[in-house]
Amino acid sequence: MCGIVGYVGQEQAAPILLDGLKRLEYRGYDSAGVAIYSEKYQKLQVEKAKGRLQVLSDMIRGGEDLDGMVGIGHTRWATHGAPSDVNAHPQVSRSGKIAVVHNGIIENYAELKAFLIEQGVPFTSQTDTEVVAQLIEYFYETDQVDILEAVGRVLRRIEGAYALGILCADKPDQLIAVRKDSPLILGYGKGCSFLASDVTAIIKYTREVGYMDDDELAVLTKDGIQCYNHLMQPIEKEISHVDWEIDAAEKGGYEHFMFKEIMEQPEALRRCIFPRIREGEVYFEDFGLTEEEIRHLKKIYIVACGSSYHVGVVGKYNLERLTRIPVEVALASEFRYMSPIVDERTLVVVISQSGETLDTMAALREAKRLGGRILSIVNVVGSSIARESDQVLYTWAGPEIAVATTKAYSTQMAVVDLLALYFARILGTVEESEYHAVLDEMLLLPGKMEAILSNKDDIQYFASQYFNHDSVFFIGRNVDYALGLEGSLKLKEISYIHSEAYASGELKHGTISLIEDGTLVVALGTYGKLFDKAMANVVEVRSRGADVLALTTENRREDMEKNANAVITIPETHDMLLPSLGVVPLQLFAYYVALMRGCDIDKPRNLAKSVTVE
Ligand code: M6R
Repeated sequence: MCGIVGYVGQEQAAPILLDGLKRLEYRGYDSAGVAIYSEKYQKLQVEKAKGRLQVLSDMIRGGEDLDGMVGIGHTRWATHGAPSDVNAHPQVSRSGKIAVVHNGIIENYAELKAFLIEQGVPFTSQTDTEVVAQLIEYFYETDQVDILEAVGRVLRRIEGAYALGILCADKPDQLIAVRKDSPLILGYGKGCSFLASDVTAIIKYTREVGYMDDDELAVLTKDGIQCYNHLMQPIEKEISHVDWEIDAAEKGGYEHFMFKEIMEQPEALRRCIFPRIREGEVYFEDFGLTEEEIRHLKKIYIVACGSSYHVGVVGKYNLERLTRIPVEVALASEFRYMSPIVDERTLVVVISQSGETLDTMAALREAKRLGGRILSIVNVVGSSIARESDQVLYTWAGPEIAVATTKAYSTQMAVVDLLALYFARILGTVEESEYHAVLDEMLLLPGKMEAILSNKDDIQYFASQYFNHDSVFFIGRNVDYALGLEGSLKLKEISYIHSEAYASGELKHGTISLIEDGTLVVALGTYGKLFDKAMANVVEVRSRGADVLALTTENRREDMEKNANAVITIPETHDMLLPSLGVVPLQLFAYYVALMRGCDIDKPRNLAKSVTVE
């Protein structure tokens, strides 16, 4: 939430900042701003605008209007203070000397603000961030300390989560970066340095990055970056090389990132699965858990948010089925408030695309505190969750930009399935034949996914039939229920249609009263063992007037057509893998429906890609 970028170098900063912000807009898009040190005017120039980045960009003619080779920029997802010009970042101190961009929440801002007001400091915004800018200036001016010391004094007083980029007009050759519980990376360029919320913002300029840790501070100049620990002792930062291509973070001719990412799934799956199957066996490089430790496990907890949580729901079915270890799936936002039972024989599987979701991170820390072993499944390399886990399995899906996750979901699921097989093999809880059947099918998943994608026009047609419904129910049993959770979230988050997922058996316990003439029910009936029951539910809702769009496997199409109004099919596969294929038509359906409703697909209202506030 909120994107930060900073540049200090030998080129005009503003266009570089705008370019970086464009790539960070998925983190927040209710307002944007930049602060540049202008050599001409010998002071900070701050430009901010409510609305999409384009509004700001047009206002400053793509940055051309601002001279200066050092600056910070921000794209906002509002927490404190409504989206407006004045609440947009950078926030500046009263003299205009200090500008701050911030991602996170300063929890004790009210008390600090009251203190500053008592000292006669006037405030112009409703943001928590302005407190940081004003407090830095307060210490800087009142205590007559240098800017670094002033920032240090502020850090000792603020509470909460923050990634901060700070620019001071008295030190126009440097930027200061600080991080606690919000992501911030450093970019090492030739004759320039960067700070950014994530790699996508700066990959065009440098591939050499450093990941800031909590309570670290960095001073960036065009000649390099010096990092300090919380005691302000200089530290060496490890520099990592980012090896993916810039194209991966661009639309490449597609109208939307979401569509591009849907289409990229077969390739992402190949990257994720193929290197992990060697000579017919699951293979994890540097897997930290020994066979003995795996045999010792008595429980698995899966903790995640949103779609990553939905992967966990499928994972529970598959892990329990293969390993016979009890699996509990928890919403990360609930985990630390529910006295979870975790000990050293519990494996806590943390799933996150971004690796920065604050609730997931907090759950990870709680699980660690309780003695659990943490294995994370993460997409973003070097992210906070990855770094704080005992073991990481990367999904290798490549950068995912659209707010609605697609390829990350598919690859997370593949990793969970591989993990289930790997454990089951060690525990001896899977038949040889089933083990190989699942593995063989996993290798076929990308091709089968391609077949589904090549029929996307059919899904587009169904979307055209149903896009004007205002309420949808997804129903299914077992893995189809888990799949319904994801299908329903996908639809509602980008099309704004009210949608809910139910375990079909629950319908009669209340929900069926909502079914009336014309209600759209998406009936998921891919799971062969429960197909007859799925069919019975279709009949039930149809006889109450529902319009049923069903999803099943190719060999059951005819049966399903007897009762459903419309049928979408996916190729046959192993039961465990049905959601991996089934999710694709549901993603496409959500995409086309949102398109037909004229929604802003990549940037749905009120949402941000990476949720770094609680
Ligand atoms: O980055 P994470 O996987 O931790 O994010 C979790 C959720 O915020 C995310 O899956 C969200 O639900 C997506 N918008 C769903 O498309």
